[in-house]
Amino acid sequence: MSLADFLNKLDELESEASAALQTVSDSEQLESLRVRYLGAKSGLFKDVQKLLGGIGGDDKPAAGKRLNEVKRSIQQALELAKDLVAGGSTAGSGPAPDPTLPGIPMRLGHLHPVTQTIEHLKEIMGRMGFSTAEGPEVEDPWHNFVALNIPEDHPARDPLDNFYLATAGAVAASEGSRLLRSQTSTVQIRVMESSKPPIRVISLGRVYRPDAPDATHFPMFHQMEGLLIDTEVTMANLKTVLRIFANNYLGGDVEIRFRPSFFPFTEPSVEVDFFWNGQWIEFGGAGMVDPAVLTGVGYDPEIYSGFAFGLGIERLCMRRHGITDIRDLFSGDLRFLKQF
Ligand code: PHE
Repeated sequence: MSLADFLNKLDELESEASAALQTVSDSEQLESLRVRYLGAKSGLFKDVQKLLGGIGGDDKPAAGKRLNEVKRSIQQALELAKDLVAGGSTAGSGPAPDPTLPGIPMRLGHLHPVTQTIEHLKEIMGRMGFSTAEGPEVEDPWHNFVALNIPEDHPARDPLDNFYLATAGAVAASEGSRLLRSQTSTVQIRVMESSKPPIRVISLGRVYRPDAPDATHFPMFHQMEGLLIDTEVTMANLKTVLRIFANNYLGGDVEIRFRPSFFPFTEPSVEVDFFWNGQWIEFGGAGMVDPAVLTGVGYDPEIYSGFAFGLGIERLCMRRHGITDIRDLFSGDLRFLKQF
């Protein structure tokens, strides 16, 4: 017998067996098909197998390989049919399963409201050409204080007002110490150290301060830092950027107000208030980057100027969504979180 004839016979056997096994409805029928195809004495497979002896030596390996494949394929079809028959009989006492019934809906989660806010703020600032920068939450005093013009004896560096880490051998507030950053202004320094003007970045992330939690305070919160450095930047540019931002985020025509303030790293410095729902609300601090800070990162303050701002992200999120207690945001309570 030629190899082609042999393979043909195998193909026929395979498709016949597969078609027959698909129609099986009970275990008796299944057993008789098993005997018909794979029966040890007179099964159809056995008949074809006997023909292998008449295949020429060179063609034997190919013929044998296909023979094994077909055997396996019939065995699999039998197993499948067995499962179907078994499934049918165990469910026999109840109604047959209805595959058209709707399934159990999957519960989908969503992003945390603060994360949603961060994405929204990035999008608004991105449209004004601000790209996003990031910095570490564990900082050294250089980036959190010194480079921001906050000298060693400054009260802002007090261990009582900062989360210093128990770094081996380092005295809190000394140069070798480490702390959880108390402000995202650290990223201003990191960006300026590693790039040249013009600069237009925002940085959004966690900051840490040892405040007792109440409706408006939490020891961890988020800030959005902004930094723009170029030639001929003025306070008017700062105010315009913040007003466009507020109009976009809070909606409508939000008024903006600057109140004189003090930050060691800006001069002049201001508190930023937005007029929202009938009242003035403080959202953060801002100012023109102090020439001492520019000099410290190697920029010439005679050529470059810029502004920086830092806004409280929870404050923005809470105002926009009418949230009255910051602790709700971090309680992990799904009844609260599901509303966003
Ligand atoms: N880092 C200041 C704070 O946390 C806010 C600020 C940022 C002020 C940038 C001026 C410029 O209070």
